[in-house]
Amino acid sequence: MWNFLFKMIGTELNKAVKHLKAGELVGIPTETVYGLAANGLDVNAVLKIFEAKERPFFDPLILHVNNLEKVNALILSFDLRLKKLADAFWPGPLTLLLPKNQLVPDIVTSGLNQVAIRIPNHPLTLSILEQLNFPLAAPSANPFGYISPTTALHVNKQLGEKVAYILDGGACEIGLESTIVGVEEGKVCVYRLGGLSIEQLEAVVGEVTLKVNLSGDPKAPGQLKSHYAPTKPLFHGDLEKLFNQHRGKKLICLCFGEPPPFKDRVRILNLSPNCDLQEAAKNLFGFLRQADELDGDVIIAQNLPMLGLGLAINDRLKRAAVN
Ligand code: TXA
Ligand code: MG
Repeated sequence: MWNFLFKMIGTELNKAVKHLKAGELVGIPTETVYGLAANGLDVNAVLKIFEAKERPFFDPLILHVNNLEKVNALILSFDLRLKKLADAFWPGPLTLLLPKNQLVPDIVTSGLNQVAIRIPNHPLTLSILEQLNFPLAAPSANPFGYISPTTALHVNKQLGEKVAYILDGGACEIGLESTIVGVEEGKVCVYRLGGLSIEQLEAVVGEVTLKVNLSGDPKAPGQLKSHYAPTKPLFHGDLEKLFNQHRGKKLICLCFGEPPPFKDRVRILNLSPNCDLQEAAKNLFGFLRQADELDGDVIIAQNLPMLGLGLAINDRLKRAAVN
């Protein structure tokens, strides 16, 4: 039984490469979250991604490669400030929006002129990319709208039946998706908060413009209002207020630092007892999954400090929340 469940999870690079070359889906590890990968230049392979995730076609995909030469082969030009960011942070949790050339199928970009590209920082995936002469299209390996996976088991649980293989690269180092950056009206803009902080970006290119919003506008990258959501109702904000509002229900509490004083009928999951935002980021999606599986009615999640990765963590919690 177990053997059957786990037969397609492993660390065999050759298997992953073979399936990808055959146009099939493979779960791949990255430093941010696990991706659901396929040949990004093969329309039929890309279609399988949308189908498996039940993802709407208006939500474009990120292409992954292992070096700048391969990036340049997919684009018309490289804005100098974006190039500076690439030089500073690739391989790493940064996705750049760049003008695509004719090699990139329209289905990848949902018909937009720009393609999202990144060089991920994970040794196994870099090694696969090195062996492929095409980029990998890879959204997070979760059903559309659900919590992103940060372990191979998370991928197996939800998409196991839909992939040919899952490459197990351990738990993701960062645990939040990449930060998405582009240029609009001459300004460097951030479209999705993620594993690279605003402070880190600004240290390289100066002030950036936040274009992150909570509207339902699907053209705004990665910014659908309801996303990253557990199936239990989640409320995000001041813990004490939320506790009082939901008194009497069985609560699961996601906190940060000093745990809250209330204990009755509350299960506490501490994202980082030592107030380390990187640790909190790494724990976030796994804890949300745990919270979803635990016995309880409602999840209440603390608003984290608005600095460094705190912005991206709060962003994900807001999108997961019903309030
Ligand atoms: O960390 C990550 O970025 C992970 C790993 C697997 O690399 N991938 C990921 O992909 O988070 P996904 O598909 O879950 O989120 C990518 C977001 C989408 O919400 C999409 O709207 C935006 O990037 N995006 C992709 N291509 C775009 C484009 N051409 N223009 C604007 N937004 C784009
Ligand atoms: Mg996603």
